[in-house]
Amino acid sequence: MCGIVAYVGSSDRTKSVLCESLGRLEYRGYDSSGICFVENGRSRVIRSEGKLENLFTKLKDCEVTSSLGIAHTRWATHGDPSERNAHPQVSGPISVVHNGIVENYPELKKELIAAGYEFRSDTDTEVISHLIRDFTEKGNSLLESTRKTFEKIEGSYAVAVMSDKEPGKIIATRRFSPLIIARSGSECFLASDIPAILPYTREFIFLEDNDFVVLDENGVSITDAAGGDVRRDPTVVDWDPSVTEKSGYRHYMLKEIFEQPSAIFDTLRGKFTADMRKVVFEDLDPSLLRNTQRIIIAACGTSYHASLIGKYMIEEVAGVNTQVELASEFRHRNPVVGPDTLFIAVSQSGETADTSEALLKAKELGMNSIGITNVVLSKISRESDCVIATKAGPEIGVASTKSFTTQVMAFYLLSVYLAISRKAVDSKRARQLIADAISVSKLQQEALGLDEHLRELSRDFYGYRNFIYLGRGINYPVALEGALKLKEVSYIHAEGYAAGEMKHGPIALIDRNMPVVFIAPEEDVYYKKLLGNFQEVKARGGRIIFITSDRELRLPDERDRKIVIPKSSYLVSPMVSVIPVQFMAYHVANILGTDVDQPRNLAKVVTVE
Ligand code: G6P
Repeated sequence: MCGIVAYVGSSDRTKSVLCESLGRLEYRGYDSSGICFVENGRSRVIRSEGKLENLFTKLKDCEVTSSLGIAHTRWATHGDPSERNAHPQVSGPISVVHNGIVENYPELKKELIAAGYEFRSDTDTEVISHLIRDFTEKGNSLLESTRKTFEKIEGSYAVAVMSDKEPGKIIATRRFSPLIIARSGSECFLASDIPAILPYTREFIFLEDNDFVVLDENGVSITDAAGGDVRRDPTVVDWDPSVTEKSGYRHYMLKEIFEQPSAIFDTLRGKFTADMRKVVFEDLDPSLLRNTQRIIIAACGTSYHASLIGKYMIEEVAGVNTQVELASEFRHRNPVVGPDTLFIAVSQSGETADTSEALLKAKELGMNSIGITNVVLSKISRESDCVIATKAGPEIGVASTKSFTTQVMAFYLLSVYLAISRKAVDSKRARQLIADAISVSKLQQEALGLDEHLRELSRDFYGYRNFIYLGRGINYPVALEGALKLKEVSYIHAEGYAAGEMKHGPIALIDRNMPVVFIAPEEDVYYKKLLGNFQEVKARGGRIIFITSDRELRLPDERDRKIVIPKSSYLVSPMVSVIPVQFMAYHVANILGTDVDQPRNLAKVVTVE
């Protein structure tokens, strides 16, 4: 949801650092972009509509002698994606890049127009540049003007500001939107997200709300809203910079599908006692779970689907009543909770606005909380009482793949942990459950061998305009996820349904033009029922893709296709059965020529409501 970067250092690196960092942030938004640096003591702003490559083309022959600059890649909220709405938004000497939303911008805009300011864009951000300019013209420093501006602003923001009048510095601040800074030698970096600046350092300072930062040739200084000094210790992040590269793959999505076995392996590392009898969560306070009688999970998108699987796992293994909520719904209603209700917020980025607001609501209601997130020190990890970290590494493709399976694994571990601590399973069953977790990487590795099969199958199916995905039990959310993946990257309409619900509506849609994808591992406790649903679809002329571990199954109609996945235990099967639907979405999109890693209208991190 918009990415911002800033750099202070050496003039021969300004352009390359800003452009490369922006490139690594493009997954946050990609409908327009812009950059600002200083030339002959004055700011120079270059902006472009469309993908970053358009900006880079404009910058190609542009010699940058500035030792500092700010840049932005946009996901439009206010104003269409166009050059004039791209950031930096400029007012006189002031240039601003912004991620977030100014909620009270209509009132502020009115006041500024009355004061004589002319608006040249439809963005909410333009009020920030005019306000900062207004305060500087009243004799305040750039830092002071930025502080005073954000006293007036309601909403969420991470911003970086430059001024012709104070050309050697960049001011930045944040509230509800992520912002990190880093130093390496004489260089200072600022970005919305770790991957942007990961090649330059491993030590990051995660800014807090209302921190005000000055970056200049002396380094970095942080103060609070009242001007008092603030000290923030750096955190070392152990991500390998190569994870932000495509490493020979055509797309990040494909690379990330292939990274799943190692991401699962990393998520499991250190999670078992030496005798392999128990699950260990170092950061989890056991008292948090001891009295829990009910769990509420909230999430969005793919994380919501992983949470639905989590519910099956927790109820099945640990016997704890669990309910899953869309975070955007939960945050606005009045749920009935008790002192024994635990809240779990699930988010790859840890920054999704609806999920973090749902977490705040849960805290207001007095619930204890766990965050399941992939990003250390993200908002959700900081706000939760305890964190279960997925170790997917940076996920760049907008459509989530490896974060889904690592979230599912986090739920699996939590359910086994709960079951053991509540004595809901005996030691033999506990050992088996742990062995099943360890088997997942290998099974996934085997399932990755289906890449070529799915590529070929996709050539046969890409022409359909609608798909239905069906599953039952723990594989029903995989059907939802399969349909979401296809929609996201190929723009084909797809619906995921619980197979048992088909007869209550979707069956009316079935004809020769409606392929139906079954997620039907043989170990699924509902397998026989799924075979019944298969017959119902066949009786109505539907064309079937049957994803199963049943090698013996024969499909009499040669128009139908069978995908054989490796057999696993029922509870871990979603982490294997999802791989073919990920591949299928990827290959269909590729054949259709869509932008797989940056599908239209989507953003990786949604920091607006
Ligand atoms: C966006 C992304 C999805 C993601 C969802 C939730 O919509 O495009 O891929 O599943 O946000 O993101 P989170 O970071 O909270 O898991």
